[in-house]
Amino acid sequence: MNYFKYIGGWPFYKIEYYICHSPRLAALMFNLILFGPPGSGKGTQSEKLVDKYGMVHLSTGNLLREEIANKTPLGLEAKKFMDHGQLVPDEVVIGMIDSSIEHHKEAAGFLFDGFPRTVAQAQALDKLLSFKGSEIDLVLALEVSEEELVHRLLNRGKTSGRPDDTNESVIRKRLTVYSNETSPVADYYKKAHKFKAVAGEGSVAEIFAALRQAVDMEMAS
Ligand code: AP5
Repeated sequence: MNYFKYIGGWPFYKIEYYICHSPRLAALMFNLILFGPPGSGKGTQSEKLVDKYGMVHLSTGNLLREEIANKTPLGLEAKKFMDHGQLVPDEVVIGMIDSSIEHHKEAAGFLFDGFPRTVAQAQALDKLLSFKGSEIDLVLALEVSEEELVHRLLNRGKTSGRPDDTNESVIRKRLTVYSNETSPVADYYKKAHKFKAVAGEGSVAEIFAALRQAVDMEMAS
């Protein structure tokens, strides 16, 4: 997707107003998925990417933890799955994403973090974006070895207060669920020629530079 295709090279901030207010220009939204296993750095890098590109950050993990903190019925139900390293049912997370997209009508694009995690979620996301005349532009997948993932999550568990980070068997369960249920999502986007793997080990700055390069290339194509 090229922001500048129809607008003769204007900088993004000058066209932002038009993107936000014209359905015809909804196609100029830039929608990115940051993909990867638990602990691969999706949350860390998402913060930097939204700062740089101004997309709206939608993390299903964060949304679910907010529901848990607010003790909503949805949160209490989701907690049963999350504490055991299992996925929350598709209909719950798809509904949450649907209302979040609706809530951000003016968004110039979304960064999806931790979603989609099943092929059914990916198909639902395609539909939700198509209602807005938009689509996923790019999927960037952070690749990190299993031992590094376990090390990072156990380390975070010392201070995060996340129940799913404190127990190594729950962490390993999350990795198994990723491999069985979430990795097929990669094939879904490979078939659509939207998938790019990025090395997820190294410094946060190095990884961010590689992600930025991939986003800039896609925006310029
Ligand atoms: P979610 O909150 O999405 O967690 P996750 O995918 O398990 O990922 P994490 O947040 O643990 O890791 P991350 O990749 O964001 O890495 P981070 O940047 O934090 O999901 C939690 C649960 O909610 C799921 O298990 C499921 O139950 C449910 N859920 C969520 N979405 C769902 C969906 N779509 N469908 C169904 N269920 C869903 O980094 C991790 C650690 O590493 C941090 O301490 C960080 O400081 C450190 N770190 C980051 N980068 C580096 C680096 N380069 N070098 C060293 N350390 C680093």
